Amino acid sequence: MHAPSRAELDLSDKESVMRVMASRDWAAVINAAAYTAVDRAECDPNSCWTVNAVWPAVLAEYAAKASVPIVHLSTDYVFSGDKDAPYLETDAIGPLGVYGASKAAGELAIQASGARAVILRTSWVVSPFGQNFLKTMLRLASEGVEIKVVADQHGTPTSAADLARVIVRVLERMLKDLSLSSGVYHVASAGETTWFGLAEEIFMNTQLKCDRPKLRAILTKDYPTLARRPKNSRLATDKIKCDFDIALPDWRVAILQVLKDTIV
Ligand SMILES: NC(=O)c1ccc[n+]([C@@H]2O[C@H](COP(=O)([O-])OP(=O)(O)OC[C@H]3O[C@@H](n4cnc5c(N)ncnc54)[C@H](OP(=O)(O)O)[C@@H]3O)[C@@H](O)[C@H]2O)c1
Repeated sequence: MHAPSRAELDLSDKESVMRVMASRDWAAVINAAAYTAVDRAECDPNSCWTVNAVWPAVLAEYAAKASVPIVHLSTDYVFSGDKDAPYLETDAIGPLGVYGASKAAGELAIQASGARAVILRTSWVVSPFGQNFLKTMLRLASEGVEIKVVADQHGTPTSAADLARVIVRVLERMLKDLSLSSGVYHVASAGETTWFGLAEEIFMNTQLKCDRPKLRAILTKDYPTLARRPKNSRLATDKIKCDFDIALPDWRVAILQVLKDTIV
């Protein structure tokens, strides 16, 4: 397994992509890199599009030519969020912003490449590492401020570690079973909540060095952002259960584990 850093493989630089792809015979490709600054993307669509749509297509073309499988991560943001139930893989996409549109274009390009590709759409990823909602909540708590959290967007937090295990399982099957067909799959923890519900769960399970913060539920309209967010980010996960026998635990279990692995 080789996980190139951005210095080695820059998805906005054709030379660098070509050099890495040609450097050895890869057995498979996993693309977890993305331009994920959802609001910045509204003012910087070219960079976002290059990383999320153009180069995933090049990676997929490589995979197709080399006859190796590719697993690509995508997002609930390909949907508008207008549906009243969890989204199925077959539901029409309808991204609300540049980021979602670029990810949808990446999906379509990969599907068109002819590569054996599994596209995993996930939602609300949390982890002890990098920047994510859980880390932001812990930082704000340490600053002792009242925290306003949106309570009318619905979705399912998913742990990056769970997601990594899913990628490995999917790829192992793709490498073993050459007849396994390509497809789009939704993968997320079980259950659902809101960002406010997630914040409550985080602070209910965290031993803070400071006082527990005061949380205030607000509406999306009271927290204006450059890019609109889907009100419904819930993903139906029956297809991956049926085809790969993969079912993630409840989101609260995932959050508890992420908190255990996070140094507060
Ligand atoms: N976070 C979520 O809630 C969420 C929800 C649904 C789907 N997803 C999807 O899950 C995947 C991973 O997201 P994430 O939350 O882990 O994002 P992230 O924390 O922003 O990480 C993105 C990664 O992509 C790399 N990257 C960005 N631009 C690059 C470039 N030009 N060349 C090479 N590497 C580049 C970054 O490298 P550096 O470390 O050098 O910056 C970083 O390692 C993405 O496909 C995203 O669309 C995420």
